[in-house]
Amino acid sequence: MEAITCARMSAEPLAESSEPENAFAGVLRFYELAKHQEWQVRDVPWGEIAPVPEGKGSPQRQARRRDVWRSVVMQQLQADVFACEMASQLLSAAPHPEAKLYYSTMVQDESRHTEAWLKLIADIGGEGERDPHLDNLAHMFLEADTLEEKVFLMQVFFERLIIPRFRLIARSSRGTILEDICNRLAVDDGIHHGSGMAYERVLLQTADAKTKETLIVAANRMLPEFAKHALWRPKAREMIGQLMEARDRERLKTELNHGVRLANSLGLDVSDVELPF
Ligand SMILES: [Fe+2]
Ligand SMILES: [Fe+2]
Repeated sequence: MEAITCARMSAEPLAESSEPENAFAGVLRFYELAKHQEWQVRDVPWGEIAPVPEGKGSPQRQARRRDVWRSVVMQQLQADVFACEMASQLLSAAPHPEAKLYYSTMVQDESRHTEAWLKLIADIGGEGERDPHLDNLAHMFLEADTLEEKVFLMQVFFERLIIPRFRLIARSSRGTILEDICNRLAVDDGIHHGSGMAYERVLLQTADAKTKETLIVAANRMLPEFAKHALWRPKAREMIGQLMEARDRERLKTELNHGVRLANSLGLDVSDVELPF
């Protein structure tokens, strides 16, 4: 999230301004930031360092470890293919030119992420098992009725909730391509989240009570599924999954609580949000 507080972003707070010409200044700042942070897949040091951490021990043990990493990459690839669809929906659904301009960068980001994951997964044995909960989340987001709901679910919640997972993966894969990609994506998703907060604030200025109510209903539908996604382990990771589940649950609880506080900061009444724990 360092990116969000960089010097270019430190203009006066814009949330209180209701003048039309200022209302979108927040969104435009994220457009500038996205352009500034843009990277290329060729900037990743392919072939210079190991794709994922290398295992030690017997060939069987090494193969098992590689499967674990493959499942980690597969989950991120699946998420970013879905993010491509979601970002292009936002680009075509947003009526405001400033938001469209911003979303044109988000479409590029998500397809660049997908390109990087595709290259990485090809280097480590190809695609693996899909996370069924991520597919459910994708349906939920893509089929949401209103723009307010899509921005809320995707950018206010999902993009924010995913950042600590990148940090976690990066920490356990030091010196690899996987770490390099995770660090880049954590910055990009910080921008995706920040821009969504800025745009949702604009959208909610004119939203009626009924629209706001649907956001809370949508959050209640999404949060249990997100929890299942965060705790889901494919066969390759079942063993590790059991060892880590208690810690994962604690971490997830903190993250979900933070999401609810963010919704609160958008002026939504979150007293009816039910956390899955
Ligand atoms: Fe992404
Ligand atoms: Fe994203």
